[in-house]
Amino acid sequence: MFRYSSTARSVVIGLFAACSLVGTVCAQDASRPQAELIARGRYLAMAADCAACHTAPEGGQPYAGGYGIQSPLGTIFSTNITPSKVNGIGEYTEADFARAVRAGVAKDGTHLYPAMPFTAYAKLSDTDISALYAFFKNEVKPVDQASRKTELPFPFSIRASMAVWNMLFLSNERFQPDAARSADWNRGAYLAEALEHCSTCHTPRNLFMAEDTRSALSGGTVGPWSAPNITSDKTSGIGGWSDAELLQYLRTGHVAGKAQAAGPMAEDVEHSLQHLTDADLRALVTYLRGTKPVASSDKQPRYSFGKPSASEASLRGLPGQAPAENGFHVFSGACANCHQADGSGNAHYPSLFNNTATGADNPDNLISTILFGLNRTVDGVPVFMPAFGPDASFTDRLSDKDVADVSNYVLSQFGNAAVKVGPEDVARVREGGRKPFLALAAPYIAPIAVVVAVILLVFIGLVVARGRRRVAPA
Ligand code: HEC
Ligand code: HEC
Ligand code: HEC
Repeated sequence: MFRYSSTARSVVIGLFAACSLVGTVCAQDASRPQAELIARGRYLAMAADCAACHTAPEGGQPYAGGYGIQSPLGTIFSTNITPSKVNGIGEYTEADFARAVRAGVAKDGTHLYPAMPFTAYAKLSDTDISALYAFFKNEVKPVDQASRKTELPFPFSIRASMAVWNMLFLSNERFQPDAARSADWNRGAYLAEALEHCSTCHTPRNLFMAEDTRSALSGGTVGPWSAPNITSDKTSGIGGWSDAELLQYLRTGHVAGKAQAAGPMAEDVEHSLQHLTDADLRALVTYLRGTKPVASSDKQPRYSFGKPSASEASLRGLPGQAPAENGFHVFSGACANCHQADGSGNAHYPSLFNNTATGADNPDNLISTILFGLNRTVDGVPVFMPAFGPDASFTDRLSDKDVADVSNYVLSQFGNAAVKVGPEDVARVREGGRKPFLALAAPYIAPIAVVVAVILLVFIGLVVARGRRRVAPA
């Protein structure tokens, strides 16, 4: 009896083991493609920088939304895109997800503002959309928490107007590889145009704030920051950078004697670019090399301005000239301890000559860096410059005039001396940068629309009356 049961038991255990082994093998076979799809989606979400916008700063839950994007028309809050059924995209089918990401229309039919870069994501392939969807559905933790509501002023509060904007400016075409170019270039183009959406910042916008594709990547503005010309042009663009320098900039945000990434570019490097594979970074460089060159008014490359400036007399400015005097004092007190009195920096702090922020044809990035500082963590190591704007500590805080004076001092000693800064420029940057036409026109749009509508009605009335008269029997 014992023997029997023991044999039976071992048979049962054996069978069970075999079954469970077969079971795991089978289950693994089924889940392997799914696991691969999710891993692909994770990489794509990082390359597309979804987290940067969809996570609130300072301890926000990943993808739960609430990040306020400063648009010239007002603050637009990102939404919760965790798989929460209550507050997120838990009820989205893959088709709903594809429509939101590529066409800018949420599941309930509301139109999204293009602060969500769907004009770039429209180029994403179906397979990449599936991978992204699998990642968000299966790996992102659901967060039952509503994000802040976006309330733009009238007339931009009418989301339906985005349907007209989309009709005019959204091309619903997937990425088309260029058969005449290498596979590497095409991979770079897909990364840059569809995933990394470089053009949303680096391409100038037209009156309706749509990208002006004729001068793609020739420079745009992002709030108070200026995203420089990164076309292949040798003088105005990045044509004079070496491949290694471009790769290093994208990977770390720092190239000694050329440029550092601050503001939105620092965020891009921190959250997305530094995590790309080397092959993808090289593809991006190949793509940048092959873009259509667009020349701006620059006479020499931004990075080529300036040299160390150590002569006491030239550093102090001429006696009795107050602005230079004040600029020199602010520089000595607030900047020289890191960037050195002669502007040459050291291993940790960049030189202020041969620096695209001081050699550009506009002072926006210089002023913004002084007001807002710089903060970028790469390979776990933070790179930090303190802010001197109104939010800075009392000891660091500089007035608009001080910022203008120190900017002029830096520009004349180390950078593009033709660029001048006034306190009003500092105030404009502090308040979020240049206002585009649409924002300036906002107060007039409603009255103008009413006037146009009245004129149209009168016109239609006249035409109808004339038509009636003509058909009326004599
Ligand atoms: C530059 C910022 C930005 C990036 C990058 C971004 N989004 Fe968005 N997204 C937004 C904003 C802002 C909204 C809300 C727009 C509105 O309210 O009109 C939004 C809305 C959405 C919605 C609609 C959700 C809803 O509430 O119904 C989805 C889905 C979405 N994003 C997915 C993604 C995915 C996936 C990625 C990465 C591939 C991504 N987003 C990257 C800013 C961004
Ligand atoms: C969210 C906006 C934004 C996005 C997206 C973005 N950039 Fe930038 N980029 C900027 C800003 C702003 C600067 C200026 C930073 C500074 O000087 O501190 C910049 C600077 C640069 C520079 C240095 C140029 C110079 O002369 O200093 C390069 C190169 C560059 N970006 C390439 C790219 C590429 C390639 C992509 C896409 C993979 C990209 N950027 C995506 C905003 C952006
Ligand atoms: C505590 C040290 C420190 C002080 C003080 C400091 N900086 Fe910086 N600065 C940095 C660091 C760090 C960077 C970025 C280095 C990098 O990105 O690799 C930087 C970058 C810059 C850049 C390049 C920004 C860009 O977008 O390309 C400029 C311009 C600049 N600083 C000007 C100034 C001026 C003007 C002052 C004084 C008002 C000042 N800094 C004070 C540390 C400092």
